[in-house]
Amino acid sequence: MHRILISVLAGAVLTAGCASEPSGPPLEPVADVAQLMRNILDPAADAVWDSSGTIITAEGTNEWEPETDEDWAVVINGAMTIAEGANLLMIGDRARDQEGWMQLSLGMSEAAMLVHEAAEARDAQRVFDLGETLYRSCDRCHNLYWVGDEDRGRVRDDNPDPPDR
Ligand code: HEC
Repeated sequence: MHRILISVLAGAVLTAGCASEPSGPPLEPVADVAQLMRNILDPAADAVWDSSGTIITAEGTNEWEPETDEDWAVVINGAMTIAEGANLLMIGDRARDQEGWMQLSLGMSEAAMLVHEAAEARDAQRVFDLGETLYRSCDRCHNLYWVGDEDRGRVRDDNPDPPDR
């Protein structure tokens, strides 16, 4: 009797386990990889890269870096957008494989979080230096997965939202 009760209970637990088995959130990726790049990751990276710099002209040297809280917020938001954007890159059929793609996405996220940390610490020099680390994290993936596109690397300012290929 005891044994039967236990097995009935175990059955109930198993059934409940099955019923509540997480099927995952109802994700519905909207953008394809190229759109994710140009609408989310690229503007966010620009916010980081454009936040400081030097331009030398005949008139003299123009240097700038984030100064106000607003300036810093732009960098912090950009860095966080990239870090979370890595997750978007890894879901659904955006992931081109389960290995390199994932590693490179995580690498980009890590680079972005370093920028985030430096921006939270208001360390303009470090944000500037990490801009290159971030760039390399993008480039590493592009070298492997952005292939067969003769437009690659072309400045697209004349056509910021080209039709999907
Ligand atoms: C895990 C891989 C991966 C990472 C990391 C990555 N990209 Fe990309 N990116 C691609 C691929 C692949 C393409 C080409 C589009 C395609 O094949 O669908 C692309 C294309 C682009 C494009 C062109 C989009 C268009 O209009 O066609 C831009 C801009 C871009 N990436 C910016 C970035 C920036 C900035 C970063 C880093 C902050 C970055 N990407 C990180 C994989 C990646």
